[in-house]
Amino acid sequence: MDASKTIKQYFRTVTAELVNKKSPLPLYYQIEEHIKALIESGELKPGDVLPSERELAESFTISRMTVRQAITNLVNKNLLYRKKGSGTYVSHKKFEQSLHGLTSFSEDMRSRGLDPGNKLIHFELSSPTEELIDHFTLEEDDLVYKIKRIRLANGEPMAIETSYIPVKLLPGLSQKVLSSSLYRYAEEENGIKLGHATQSLEASAATEEDAKHLQLDAGDPVLFIQRETFLEDGAPFELVKSTYRGDKYKYKMNIERLR
Ligand code: GLP
Repeated sequence: MDASKTIKQYFRTVTAELVNKKSPLPLYYQIEEHIKALIESGELKPGDVLPSERELAESFTISRMTVRQAITNLVNKNLLYRKKGSGTYVSHKKFEQSLHGLTSFSEDMRSRGLDPGNKLIHFELSSPTEELIDHFTLEEDDLVYKIKRIRLANGEPMAIETSYIPVKLLPGLSQKVLSSSLYRYAEEENGIKLGHATQSLEASAATEEDAKHLQLDAGDPVLFIQRETFLEDGAPFELVKSTYRGDKYKYKMNIERLR
């Protein structure tokens, strides 16, 4: 049976007694708590579509404005998300990614018990742009790799990464190598010693191309992350521009009181 139908039926049969109009608790809050409990118990699952505001208002016998208030609060708490012209859905649980420690995508996925994967969509050796010459302090005739990969977890797209690496640092890099971990290849097969990275994160909206690769709609929220990785001796190793799915990731950092 189709998921939305099950949920609609569920709401129809049990909603009447769910809202207590005599309670001092506001009606929108009662509905909000009810939907939240359905998500927490797993009766509503990530990706399930909710009945429309009109249908919910009818089954709860309350106004659409009240339903909208409850849904907006749950959207603001990231428990639900709205898709233009399509409906309101239960959010997927986000990966919590620590902003501590220089790790690879493959390591991050494995530490969550997921199988990391890659889809290489671009591999090129080219002359560096001004930005890359400055960043890596290259000579005009040095070459850089431009690598574009869709990063997968258990086969599901998580991010698109475009990496630039000077060819002289990894002369043997090939398309085949890039079907698995780049950091593993650099460290274990080339003796590269990665030291530290600087990373910036900013909110952005999925472009048409991002949407196509990440199974999103254009305009959906994404995280734009730029990492500049350096070797132990301080020389720049890679410049990576990534687009991570906004519905899948949240970043966490430990902060200490400054004294
Ligand atoms: C992360 C970083 C990238 C890095 C990649 C290496 O995704 N954002 O800067 O290139 O890890 O991952 P792997 O070793 O799995 O290819």
